[in-house]
Amino acid sequence: MNNDPSIEFINIRKSYGTNTVLDGLNMTVSAREHVVIIGPSGSGKSTILKLLMTLEKPDSGEIIIDGENLWHPARGGQNSEADPAHLRHMRSKVGMVFQHFNLFPHLRVLQNITEAPVRVLAVPRAEANQHARELLDRVGLADKYNAWPAELSGGQKQRVAIARALALQPRIMLFDEITSALDPEIASQVLQLVLDLARQTDMTMLFVTHQMHFARQVADRVVFFDQGKIVEQGTANQVLENPAQARTREFLSNILMAS
Ligand SMILES: Nc1ncnc2c1ncn2[C@@H]1O[C@H](COP(=O)(O)OP(=O)(O)OP(=O)(O)O)[C@@H](O)[C@H]1O
Ligand SMILES: [Mg+2]
Repeated sequence: MNNDPSIEFINIRKSYGTNTVLDGLNMTVSAREHVVIIGPSGSGKSTILKLLMTLEKPDSGEIIIDGENLWHPARGGQNSEADPAHLRHMRSKVGMVFQHFNLFPHLRVLQNITEAPVRVLAVPRAEANQHARELLDRVGLADKYNAWPAELSGGQKQRVAIARALALQPRIMLFDEITSALDPEIASQVLQLVLDLARQTDMTMLFVTHQMHFARQVADRVVFFDQGKIVEQGTANQVLENPAQARTREFLSNILMAS
């Protein structure tokens, strides 16, 4: 891992009405780093990922991805407001896999994967199809290219969603509790696939997960997050085995009770 920053959150504030979700978040993720974010429900974990996907906009602060300002790109020495072309360019750097798969129900598996490359990146259809078939092979679903999403099991849907995110060849991948809607056995197969991906590629990865076994295997760093702020962070060993903060210990024992 080198230390080039891949993602920087600088003093990010985000509220929904009177509910302050992120209260001056500062966090840097290095290129190729694998960071696991843990924290209680409602603490703002998904909001952090959605901000990177431009699904949400911060109230204030700056988000830098790959050295480029997400909402205020530098133009002629000044920071300007992002235009649609800039946002498209920035979105193509980041892929995300969601808890509930979010496949397009009206498109067959192959088209779910090719839609964004063809429409957003203007990849020729034949080339996008070829790449999608390779990605389906990689996630173990080579024979499902012609299926409808409704014909797939949960684990298969999540594999398609992973292939779809990879199709844009993002530098950064975000995973938001991607196995919490799956049976334990299927969940561990999907997590093994993601672990292989993490080990074989050089993408920067952010994971929100309650799967502590997976977190230990994948994480370069674990960040415990509560009430809009980072409470504690460090290696998995530091944060999960030897937490310094009482709040972290309380959270981890609650998770153990639930698993
Ligand atoms: N679109 C929205 N409109 C209003 N409030 C929202 C919206 N999205 C999130 N919130 C609120 O923001 C807070 C943080 O939500 P977020 O989804 O980031 O939490 P989380 O840490 O991912 O929780 P969970 O572990 O349950 O997924 C919550 O209080 C939530 O109710
Ligand atoms: Mg969430």
